[in-house]
Amino acid sequence: MTQNTLENTLIDPTQNPELAANLVKILEEHKNKPGSLMVILNDVQAKIGFVSEQIQQFIANYLKVPVSKVHGVISFYSFYTTRPRGKHTIKFCMGTACYVGGAAQLIDKAKQLIGIEMGKTTDDGNITMEECRCVGACSQAPVVVVDESIHGRVQPSKVATLIRTIERLDKEG
Ligand code: FES
Repeated sequence: MTQNTLENTLIDPTQNPELAANLVKILEEHKNKPGSLMVILNDVQAKIGFVSEQIQQFIANYLKVPVSKVHGVISFYSFYTTRPRGKHTIKFCMGTACYVGGAAQLIDKAKQLIGIEMGKTTDDGNITMEECRCVGACSQAPVVVVDESIHGRVQPSKVATLIRTIERLDKEG
């Protein structure tokens, strides 16, 4: 089985009965609540960790709503992810202040050091690299968020240190 096929099996409820059962549990719990779609998607993101295209389709079928409606919510809010994340996430703010402050150079440096493209996860499942919208720390632009902690005024030369911090976090468990 290729890596891609394996990943597709994991993120597709029609091929992964355990995932389907967990989704049905979440859907049944919330489907009659006001604003149920958002509540369901939030719970899926929190408990499953991602809302893949296949999960979006599954939810749409279950709730009998167009998949475009589900997709619209997922693409509007940046906290949803469509792929499983790695153990650690390094996010680069692409809000205006950070963009002007040199976020693109930080991203280039990180891609080079980690060896993955934006939005991807390392093969060992350790680091996911993502872009994010303004995190409200514009005065410290450019900003990088490692897991939950915000690092401000990051220079390209500092990116290697941040990556080493992630590797150390991993060793500490
Ligand atoms: S633009 Fe990056 S924190 Fe606001």
